[in-house]
Amino acid sequence: MARYVVTGGAGFIGSHVAEALAGLDHTVVVIDDLSTGHKHNLTGFSERITFVEGSITDLALLKRHFRDAEVVFHQAALASVPRSVADPLASNDVNVTGTLNVFLAARDLGVRRVVYAASSSAYGDSEVLPKREDMPARPLSPYAVTKYVDELYGKIFTDLYGLPTIGLRYFNVFGPRQDPESQYAAVVPLFITRFLAGISPTINGDGGQSRDFTYIDNVVHANLRAAAAGPAADGLVYNIACGASVTIQELCLEIRRLVGSEVAPTYGPSRVGDVRHSLADISQARRLLGYEPAVSLAAGLERTVAWYRANRAGGRS
Ligand SMILES: NC(=O)c1ccc[n+]([C@@H]2O[C@H](COP(=O)([O-])OP(=O)(O)OC[C@H]3O[C@@H](n4cnc5c(N)ncnc54)[C@H](O)[C@@H]3O)[C@@H](O)[C@H]2O)c1
Repeated sequence: MARYVVTGGAGFIGSHVAEALAGLDHTVVVIDDLSTGHKHNLTGFSERITFVEGSITDLALLKRHFRDAEVVFHQAALASVPRSVADPLASNDVNVTGTLNVFLAARDLGVRRVVYAASSSAYGDSEVLPKREDMPARPLSPYAVTKYVDELYGKIFTDLYGLPTIGLRYFNVFGPRQDPESQYAAVVPLFITRFLAGISPTINGDGGQSRDFTYIDNVVHANLRAAAAGPAADGLVYNIACGASVTIQELCLEIRRLVGSEVAPTYGPSRVGDVRHSLADISQARRLLGYEPAVSLAAGLERTVAWYRANRAGGRS
């Protein structure tokens, strides 16, 4: 039975990673400051983990809890493009300084590997599709800059200090527990909860922008594969996606169909810092991590709609 730490474990992605690890009978420590996460995300498995309320900006706290950890799954961040546009300093403090603290504490405490959340936003608006990890980064927002800087630190910590790190560039993750109430809510929970409430959801821009949406179970699988990967996988970043894209307009209509709504979407202004198209080449993750996205967009949407239908009050389970 190994000891694992999940930063940001009360958030959407982190809570699923923590639940999966707890389900495998590992010792799991969740570190989260509850700034965007919620304790109710731990409902159903909270008795099988240790919850520490604290910030990744607190290096001493990290060092206390990283002792004897096999792997740190670093998910904590201010995970929003618009939020970073409004307050770049706050995003930098958590996403860059906080991540640097995670790497430092892991290095000093002899953690075997850090698997950290990176982001497809690093690619920016390059015209070339699909995105491959060897393409140059072109961040378009402060958020994207912070996540890309994390990757640079990840590589430095592997090459310079011998700390094995693996970065997972998530592409538009969705699924149960994603916060539909947040001011910066992601599009899938927003559309689902609006349609369920009989309210017209707003599409930013013309809806022709496209994304490679990734169901949460695929992301959990990627984290577990990364933790178990051989040393050749270290110091690199990996696209974690489905390898297929849909437009926001198509997504919206599919969610409307699944909900059984007849409400029409409305259209608002485009969001600053948003990229137009996004689609991943996932061959590197397949090859070096053994990653395979088992849950398709269609199946993931069906499960997600079912979950929000059953948990309408703020997404509680
Ligand atoms: N959801 C996506 O589509 C997506 C895409 C690309 C990358 N990511 C990355 O995945 C990770 C998880 O994102 P998410 O969607 O689950 O977001 P989330 O907001 O649900 O989870 C982030 C968690 O980190 C916690 N946190 C924030 N600041 C903290 C701090 N200073 N100390 C400790 N905990 C702190 C929050 O309270 C929250 O529980 C983030 O690193 C994000 O940048 C997410």
